[in-house]
Amino acid sequence: MISYTTQVFKNPRAKHNFQGQSCSIAGVGSYVPERILTNAELEKIVETSDEWITTRTGIKARRIAAADEFTSDLATKAALKAMASAGVTAEEIDLIIVATITPDMPFPSTACLVQKKIGAKRAAAFDLEAACSGFIYALEIAQQFIMSRTYKTVLVIGAEKLSSITDWKDRNTCVLFGDGAGAAILQNRPNSHGLLTAVMGADGDKSDLLFMEGGGSRCPATVDSVNARMHYLRMEGKETFKSAVQAMQSAAEEALRRCELNITQIKCVIPHQANRRIIDAVGERLGATPEQLFVNLEKYGNTSAASVAIALDEAVESGRVQRGDLILLVVFGAGLTWGAAVIEW
Ligand code: UT7
Repeated sequence: MISYTTQVFKNPRAKHNFQGQSCSIAGVGSYVPERILTNAELEKIVETSDEWITTRTGIKARRIAAADEFTSDLATKAALKAMASAGVTAEEIDLIIVATITPDMPFPSTACLVQKKIGAKRAAAFDLEAACSGFIYALEIAQQFIMSRTYKTVLVIGAEKLSSITDWKDRNTCVLFGDGAGAAILQNRPNSHGLLTAVMGADGDKSDLLFMEGGGSRCPATVDSVNARMHYLRMEGKETFKSAVQAMQSAAEEALRRCELNITQIKCVIPHQANRRIIDAVGERLGATPEQLFVNLEKYGNTSAASVAIALDEAVESGRVQRGDLILLVVFGAGLTWGAAVIEW
C-alpha cells in the first residue's frame, strides 16, 4: 500500500512530488454578527472595567448574534463567502465539516443544517468538537480526505454562538467570548499551493479546566441543572493560560519542524485569539517578531473554533498575506486540545 501521508509529512514542501497531489486552500470567508458589545457596556452588567479587560486580555469588544441568528446562520454566511472567493458552487462540495461547541441543537449536526441552507445536495456532512482547536482539526481531516482522493472539494467551517453558553453573571468568563464564523474551501488542485501540514494534540487529564457540564448524558437538562447554571461554560483561567502557552509553543514548533522551516520564513503567525498576553508569550517563545503576529481579538474576543478562521480571512482580505507567503496557525482549547498548521498561501 502506498503511504502518501509518510511522504507528505516527511517533507511537506515537496508535496508536489507525490503524484502531483496538493491540498489547496482555494478560498476563505468569514462573518461576524452586527451587534457590537463593548467593554463599557459590560461594566453595566458585571463588576468589571474596561481597564481590567483591556490590560488582562486585550479585548475591547465582541460580536453578539441576534436572538434568531444561530450558529448555522453564521456558518452559512461565512461558507458562501469562501465559496465565492474559491469560485466553487454548492453542487461541487463533497463534504462539509463544521467545527463548533455551540451547535444549533445536539442533533442533527450543524453541518447538515448548513448543507441544507447552501444547497450542497451532494455533500456528506458532520460536526467536529475540538473546542477552540476545532478549525485546525477540521483542516487536518479535510486534508486526509483530499490527499487520499476520496473527495475533491471540502468545505471546512469554524462557527460559534458562544453568547448562548456564556454566563452573563460570571465576570471571569463573560468578558472573554464572542460570536462569529470563518470558512475555507479545500480542494485537490494539482501542483498548487496549500496546506502543508497540520498537528493535533489533546490531554483529557485536564478536561476539568474548561467545560460545560449541563446538557450531555451525564447531566441532562432539568430544572435543577438550569437553576444551578450548569448550561454555561466554566473555566479555570490561570491554569488554562499556562497550558495554552506551553501547548501552543510545542504544536507550532512541531509543525515548523515537519516542514523543515524556521520562524523567520513565516510571513504571518495566526494564533488562537483568546488573550493578548498568551499571544505575546507564544510569539516570544517562538522567536516571532510582533510584526509577524496577527491579532484581531480587540474586535471579537475569543470566538473559539471560529477564531483563527476569521483571522485567516482577515489576514488575506487586508493583504497581510500574499500568494506564496507562509502562514502558521496555532490553536488551543478545551479538552484540552491544541494544534498548529502551516499553509503556503
Ligand atoms: O479559548 C480557550 C483558551 N482560553 C484561554 O486560554 C484563556 C486563558 N486564561 C486567561 O486568559 C486569563 O487567565 C483570564 C483573562 C481569564 C484571567 O486573567 P488572570 O490574569 O489569570 O486573572 P485571575 O483569574 O488570576 O484573576 C485575577 C483577579 C481576581 O481577583 P482576586 O481574586 O485577585 O481578588 C478575579 O476575581 O481578577 C478578578 N477578575 C476580574 N476583575 C475584573 C476576574 N475577572 C474579572 C473581570 N473584571 N472581568
